[in-house]
Amino acid sequence: MTIDGKTQVYGILGYPVKHSLSPVFQNRAFRYFSLNAVYVPFEVKPEDFETALRGLKALGVKGVNITLPHKEKALELADFKDSHAQAIGSANTLKFTEDGVYAYNTDWIGFLKAVRELTPNLRDLKVLVLGAGGSAKAVLYALKLEGARVFLWNRTQGKAKRLCEEFKCIHVKKPEEALEEAELIVNTTSLGLKEEDPPIFDYKELKPRHKVMDIIYRETPLLRSAKEKGCLYKDGLDMLLYQGMESFRIWTGYDVPYEVVKDSVLEYII
Ligand code: ATR
Repeated sequence: MTIDGKTQVYGILGYPVKHSLSPVFQNRAFRYFSLNAVYVPFEVKPEDFETALRGLKALGVKGVNITLPHKEKALELADFKDSHAQAIGSANTLKFTEDGVYAYNTDWIGFLKAVRELTPNLRDLKVLVLGAGGSAKAVLYALKLEGARVFLWNRTQGKAKRLCEEFKCIHVKKPEEALEEAELIVNTTSLGLKEEDPPIFDYKELKPRHKVMDIIYRETPLLRSAKEKGCLYKDGLDMLLYQGMESFRIWTGYDVPYEVVKDSVLEYII
């Protein structure tokens, strides 16, 4: 890659950001279309986010992805907010233009495209969602938009109850309460990131008819149990790639082929 006076700069802001796969596949996408652009990681502390954003504008950066813990602040500070981002309450994609900063959320699109590969029709599907953090909101938004019936569990019940009011889902005190009815189970908690994490529920209760999705992008103990039970299952890699492909389209107008971005990250995944 040659960087010259006309190279356009894109990036991702997060804290931490070192393990992000986005620079890998976004740079691959720029190369695929021979665009004179580069995508770099910016590790920005929460207290520095606003200053960083002003800096990006001043420097003429064209677009950024936003990850934990800045997504809510990014939406708040943008000049123009896409309706989906507004409904979800956070932005993972910013585009800088002459008119101002545009905020989008592509996480819900990434989730929707990925989950449809597991179960194409979501209307009236009974779904158990685990977790009520930032990612859960994008997941709930997509599921409700498609007409799914959602049961929501979270360790901190108050958070789940609030989201249930907002997204019209049914609160459950324990995942087990909804396992009988649920056709699809989606984990949005960080449990399973580490092998030693406790199970979210007793995975012996999984049945082959359950479809299971984890937004963590490797085989978690939940997904391993689903596999052993003969369930259809999916990890979070495609959600990550699809949200990134959508961000890329927002910035450049180009649709990068899935195989191109997928191939670029394979060597980085355990
Ligand atoms: P994200 O944006 O990835 O969703 P987050 O907003 O920090 O990140 O949300 C993390 C989610 O994982 C929350 O649902 C959190 O539960 P709490 O709301 O009770 O904190 C969940 N989580 C994290 N660690 C957990 C643990 N040890 N047991 C159960 N849930 C956990």
